[in-house]
Parts: sequence; structure tokens; C-alpha cells
Amino acid sequence: MPHALLVDDNVDTLDALATLVRGEGYTASTAPTVDRARAELRRQMPDVVLLDLNLPDGSGMNLLDAVGGLNAPAVVLITGHASVDTAVQALRHGVTDYLTKPLDIRRLREILGDIARTSQLPQELVALRESLDTSGRFGHLVGRSASMRRTCDLIARIAPSSASVLITGESGTGKDVVARTIHDLSRRRHSAFVPVNCGAISTGVMESELFGHERGSFTGADRRHKGYFERAHRGTLFLDEITEMPIELQVKLLRVLETGTFPRVGGEEAVAVDVRVLAASNRNVFEAMEQGKLREDLYYRLKVFELELPPLRERPDDVPPLVVHFLEDLEEKEGRRKDITEGTLRLLTEYAWPGNVRELRNVTHSAFILAGDTIEPEHLPREVHLGGDLPGRPDDGKVLRVCVGTSLADVERRMIVATLRQCDGNKTRAAELLGISLKTLYNRLNAYQQEDAGGEAVADGDARDQSVEAAAEQG
Ligand SMILES: Nc1ncnc2c1ncn2[C@@H]1O[C@H](COP(=O)(O)OP(=O)(O)OP(=O)(O)O)[C@@H](O)[C@H]1O
Ligand SMILES: [Mg+2]
Repeated sequence: MPHALLVDDNVDTLDALATLVRGEGYTASTAPTVDRARAELRRQMPDVVLLDLNLPDGSGMNLLDAVGGLNAPAVVLITGHASVDTAVQALRHGVTDYLTKPLDIRRLREILGDIARTSQLPQELVALRESLDTSGRFGHLVGRSASMRRTCDLIARIAPSSASVLITGESGTGKDVVARTIHDLSRRRHSAFVPVNCGAISTGVMESELFGHERGSFTGADRRHKGYFERAHRGTLFLDEITEMPIELQVKLLRVLETGTFPRVGGEEAVAVDVRVLAASNRNVFEAMEQGKLREDLYYRLKVFELELPPLRERPDDVPPLVVHFLEDLEEKEGRRKDITEGTLRLLTEYAWPGNVRELRNVTHSAFILAGDTIEPEHLPREVHLGGDLPGRPDDGKVLRVCVGTSLADVERRMIVATLRQCDGNKTRAAELLGISLKTLYNRLNAYQQEDAGGEAVADGDARDQSVEAAAEQG
């Protein structure tokens, strides 16, 4: 049986709440002060704490440090005054949900029901966190890089609450998967996850798509239509490409987020919804605000938490586990297993992935189709072999960044120097990698020395072409 701790300085309120939670199948203990609540928490960790903000010995928020961590109970804050700022602060500090007085009993019952149904969630999150360490998997998310770990840690902390989250990152970095993961690890996972791509709905119909419409509200509206908000009631609404939402609708969205109600198009009655909003953008949101594509007040309301997904090129450690994951997926679908060589994996890891994880998935898929039993470098597209020469790749020594307009002589020189550095100065190995003779390598290095000393050096054109080609083949 789930257990609830009720914290309020008013004895009558405590009595009424105790009766209510027992009616929902919980056992209950009560505390009139922060101090007594702490003592109760030491005695028994509850599944939920219903917490009044104003207590005789301090703010109810002071209790949050005692219930932190992954294995934490859900905390539902009950406040006398509905300040959006307080609510946002509370959600940031780990509160699951908040209600204002007078209490909406139906809503409280729904919240208690969701918490009881997801009582395994804290243990699940601990297990997922371990699985990330051991197998590089966190639900649908795969990765081992430090930034992926930070992302998963944050998801584990914020998913169980109702806080809105703004997810940003280049196209293909995994914003959709992250949004779904947040929903699946939330108290709302038994209700709908409703994704809406704001960039794919024409401006004219977006309002009625989001908020629904009443019968007869416009030509063709022959019956009442439920919008995405109503369909996401008690669940999660994922507003993708939020900067594509017309600015007048952003005003309305903000109002819904603050009041939890809206009228349908052509209607008077306020429809009440309990929806968690996740939003995503693959644009730079600050630029979007400057250009008037995103309202600043909406931005601050949406980003109670912000999850920035770095491009794949900044987390190459994620490439091997992702490839393995995609291959396992293919194995299951196609009923056939194919291995991949170390060298192929290395090429994939060194490529800049302008299309991020989506591009990696597609490349893995096409290589799987082309290969026999083993995926080899020849099954990868040309651009992956030229990996380092794409813009946007950080200069980590393994990769050469060359801008269009660079002279071939410069490209050659940089390639030779970088290869030599990678080989720790071993010229035989460097020449081998570059596909040139040791003699040619020495000639080049001599020439560079003379150039640097201010002398003229003429390199032999044939060898130069040969070395650039070879270097390109090596990636
Ligand atoms: N960390 C990850 N683990 C496993 N799969 C991933 C991960 N990141 C992305 N993917 C996969 O890569 C593909 C693209 O991801 P997703 O659609 O989430 O990107 P996005 O950021 O929403 O892109 P866009 O901005 O174009 O909408 C999907 O097939 C998704 O499953
Ligand atoms: Mg997406």
C-alpha cells in the first residue's frame, strides 16, 4: 500500500487530507511543522509528500533537501497563492506537481492515482542509471559520452515531475527520443504522449488544431473538435519546432501554461487541462528571440529545465555504442547478424556527422545492406572517408579541418604534419599512412623547413598529388 506524508499547520486540513488519501488507497501520517515532517521522513520514507508552503517553523521548501535524490518520493506542493514564479522555482527544486488552494479535489485524486500507479518509478530510475554505466543504455537512449551521461542524469531527475522542458540541439541529435523518454519516465506515462510539429501545420489551422473548435465556429466545422491540448490531458504534449508557432499563438500558449485553461476556437467556456508541455527547437533560440520568432516570456516559461543536446561530432564516444545499437536493431528486423570491423568503426567515429545521429543511423543501415557478413570501410559512403574535411569538426588532432579555398600545397602540408604528429614522429609509419615513400616524406619535410626559414622550395608535383589522394583515402 502506498504511503503519504501530509504536512500542513492546520489540523482540520490535515484531517481532511488524511481522509482523502486513505480513500485513494494510501496509508497516511501527518506533520504540522517542518521539524516534525523531518522526523516522520526518518521513520518511514513515503511515496508522496503533500506539502504546504507556509509552515510555522519555515517554508515547506526547506523539506526538499530531505527528500532529494533519485529514490525520492513525489512531492506535491500546495500553495495558498498562485504565483507562477513560485511554481517554477518549486518544480526546479524537485517538486513533482503543485496545486493552489482552494484545492481541486479531482485533480489531487488524479495525481495520487498517477503516483500510486508509478510507485516503481524511483527504483526503475536507479536501475536505468546503472544500465547507463554498464551498457551505455538509458531506455531508448544510447550513449557513453560525458555529455550523454549528464543528459540522462538530468532526465532521471526531471522526468517524474510536471515541469516543462525545452530541448534544443541540431537536427538529428535526438530531441524526439529525449522527449519520449521523459514522458515514459514520468508519472504521466499511462496517459497520452502527443507530439505536434509546429513547423508542419499551416498557420491558419494551428489554433484550432491546438485548442480545438466548437461546432459551427467556421465554415466546415460541422462538429466539436478536440485539439491536441485536450487529447494530451493528464499526459504530455510535445511541441516540436516551437519557433515555427505564430507569435499570436505563442501568447495564447503562454496563457494556457499559466492558467491551465483555454477556450476552444469559437467557444466561450474555459476548458481545463492538466498537460505537461515539452518543447523543442533545432534553431538557436536566442537568435529566434532576436528575430521575433520566439517570445521571450514563453521561452522562460518553457525552460523550467533546458536540455541542450550537443552535436554528435562533439561526443564521438557515443558513436560505437550507437552503431552497435543500430546493428542490433537491424539484426532483429532482418533476422541476420552482421559484424563491423574496428577500422570501419574508427572511420565512423572520426566523421563529423553534420546530420548527427539520424545520419549515423542511415549510414549504418545502408552499410548493413551493402555488406556481406562483415561491414568494412568500402561499405561506407564517400563523405565518411573524407570525414575530417567537413566543416564543423573540432580540431582534436585526429581530424583536419580544411576550408574551401585552401591551396592544395597547404592542405598537403597540414595533412603531413598532422599525420606525423598522430604517429608520434614515426616517419616510416606516417609515410605508410599517407601512402607516399619515405623519401618523398623527407623531401617534403625538408622543403617545409626551408620555407619556414624563408627559402624557396619546389616540390615535385607528381608526389604531391599522390600524397593528397592517399591522405584523403585515409580520412
Ligand atoms: N541517443 C540516442 N540513442 C539512440 N537513438 C538515437 C539517439 N539520438 C538519436 N537517435 C535516433 O536518431 C534519429 C534522429 O533522432 P530524433 O528524431 O530524436 O532527432 P531530432 O533532434 O528530433 O531531429 P529534428 O531536429 O530533425 O527533429 C532517430 O531515429 C532516433 O531514434
Ligand atoms: Mg525531432
